[in-house]
Amino acid sequence: MRVAALDQGTTSTRCLVFEDGADWQLVGSIQHAQHYPHPGHVEHDAEELLANLRTLLAQAGRIDAIGIANQGESCLAWDALTGAPLSPVIVWQDARTADSLASLSADAAERSRALCGLPLDPYFSASKLGWIVQTLPAARTALAEGRLRLGTTDAFFLDRLCGVFATDAATASRTGLLDLQTGQWSAELCALHGVPLDCLPAIRSVNGGFGCIDGVPVITSIVDQQAALYGHGCRAPGDTKITFGTGAFLLTVAGENRPPEGDLLPTVAWRLHDAAPTYALEGGVYDAGAALEWARSLRLFDIMEELSDFEGPSALSRGLVCVPALSGLAAPFWDRTAAPLFIGMSHGTTRQDMVRALLEGIAMLTSGLIAAAPTGASITCDGGLSQSWYFAQFLASASKRTIIVPAMHEVTALGLAELCGVDVAPIRNQTRVFHPDGTVSAAEHELFRKAVERSRHWFG
Ligand code: G3P
Repeated sequence: MRVAALDQGTTSTRCLVFEDGADWQLVGSIQHAQHYPHPGHVEHDAEELLANLRTLLAQAGRIDAIGIANQGESCLAWDALTGAPLSPVIVWQDARTADSLASLSADAAERSRALCGLPLDPYFSASKLGWIVQTLPAARTALAEGRLRLGTTDAFFLDRLCGVFATDAATASRTGLLDLQTGQWSAELCALHGVPLDCLPAIRSVNGGFGCIDGVPVITSIVDQQAALYGHGCRAPGDTKITFGTGAFLLTVAGENRPPEGDLLPTVAWRLHDAAPTYALEGGVYDAGAALEWARSLRLFDIMEELSDFEGPSALSRGLVCVPALSGLAAPFWDRTAAPLFIGMSHGTTRQDMVRALLEGIAMLTSGLIAAAPTGASITCDGGLSQSWYFAQFLASASKRTIIVPAMHEVTALGLAELCGVDVAPIRNQTRVFHPDGTVSAAEHELFRKAVERSRHWFG
């Protein structure tokens, strides 16, 4: 079996081909434009993403099946008759609805938590879809004429590529509109956000089939984070992965019962065929790779190799702290008014000290997620930052967990391939392991906690 795994992420679209027997290859990777039309607004062009998927599929050669991973909460409107987008893709990072959500009542926030497990944060799709319907004339006209479609990017891709208007249970659980109890769209949450329920796609299992592209079945469609959880081999409650992409996202398998929401959020990990859903607890740091890209744009460092090349005591142990809250703070703070900060510089502070403090700040925020998760003694990690051995060791020390970094780090694509039925076990067997070494003290945790307090409510 030869499977094309398409990972349509926040900054690029990647395609890998997998075959039974441990054979895999990267077909290609295409970056797309990031549009920032106003402060706090982040948009993609839906047609550009679609064209990149088509280009990579055409390069994949003969394939028997396709799996597609999506960005999660990023969403748009399109025309049911023509398929033409009626809005830009409003990306998960986009905070344009922060004020309108803040004006909703405490009661509404509680109902949201109770029904879909998620807080009223602009990260999730619900308020973005409501904004589209309320603000864009093209969407309003389409609604009035009965041809409006609303959904996350996967639903748009599947509609255009396969003629199937559907999403999957895991992606649906990231919208803020899914009733976790029933597994269906919640009329109450749709009404709260002003989203017409009839315009939303049907919800399928993650590997239940989504039609065909040029005769090749799309077996799997799922959020990238959940695909990575599967790709890491996490199956039992407590099995945990963290993916360091644009943001850092931790998922812990929670089992077949909806876990109670606390600092981490209940979400659907996957629903296979027609089985009951498996749940996960999820928590994120909005800016991981995105914070590093910002640091690189300021020339705090030039190449990734520099991020493994530090000597002497950590920046944190010298009182130099960074809270990389460029988009505010996600779990467990949910504070969009938090500001990024560096504190504790001296006349002798170097560029290298600053980037080291930034790396440590990402690790400390991630360590906070780990502390809130019912994890086992070890955690598997993937994504750009996991390739910095300094970062991985610091995270192990800060979190007091063993950090495992698989050699095959295209774990999202690996999960897609496995969900399509490829035997990927031989690919998983090489790893690098980082053990906690006691080098991050309780006093340093306290120092970081104080810095986070100072960053909070800055813009609020
Ligand atoms: O929640 C957003 C996340 O799923 C996006 O992941 O890898 O596209 O940055 P990535």
